[in-house]
Amino acid sequence: AHRQFFVGGNWKSNGTQASVRELIEQVLNPTQIDFARVQVVVAPVSIHLQFARSLLKPEISVSAQNCSLTGPGAFTGEVAAEQIIDLGLSWTILGHSERRTLYGETDDVVSKKVNRALAHGLSVIACFGENLQEREANVTLDVVARQLAALKEGITDWSKVVLAYEPVWAIGTGRNATPEQAQEVHAMIRNWLGTNVSAEVAAHTRVIYGGSVTDQNAAQLIAQPDVDGFLVGGASLKPAFKVILEATN
Ligand code: G3H
Repeated sequence: AHRQFFVGGNWKSNGTQASVRELIEQVLNPTQIDFARVQVVVAPVSIHLQFARSLLKPEISVSAQNCSLTGPGAFTGEVAAEQIIDLGLSWTILGHSERRTLYGETDDVVSKKVNRALAHGLSVIACFGENLQEREANVTLDVVARQLAALKEGITDWSKVVLAYEPVWAIGTGRNATPEQAQEVHAMIRNWLGTNVSAEVAAHTRVIYGGSVTDQNAAQLIAQPDVDGFLVGGASLKPAFKVILEATN
């Protein structure tokens, strides 16, 4: 099955209005991208969502980085799915390892957030992956299967979900998974989907890789049969993002 590539830029809690403008005007908008081959989505901090949307060319989508488990109401500091939809946006990242490890989001919370986001019409970049201790203990595939099983509980429409495999030891460390390591886990994820969801979902769901993706390693990673794209952190804030985007051409 042909799957459209997917490249996400997760800007995390970085940037000013000036730096966001520069990145969009000098890197993102001028890059020649075949949008039939690759879907491109960038995730600025929530207070920059509208600003980024207003500057980006329409083919590039804008995503939130998180979404509340609750609806609009007395939930100080939270942004609800309804409010992301109200901005005319259609994506959110959920379950990023920084949300899980620094802000206490459990598999169950992430699954419920995914369910709520989908129910309100958002598409979801759902993140998961093992930490270093788990990899060294050779339980990566068990951990990923547990995280996928929790996500599955919340997923009502797989066509609106992109799975982002992000080994925690590779995030922001400069130590990316090798193409072979990424392919091994991505193939297991697709196999898991075939066994636990359906052959169709296994064939069509984009499984993207995140963790120290750079202009130096993107081409080798994307060449793997089960790597359908990237969720890029640090390098998505730099001119290197252009090279990563072009790696899908
Ligand atoms: O969401 C993106 C990942 O956390 C990867 O971040 O590319 O800076 O390692 P990184």
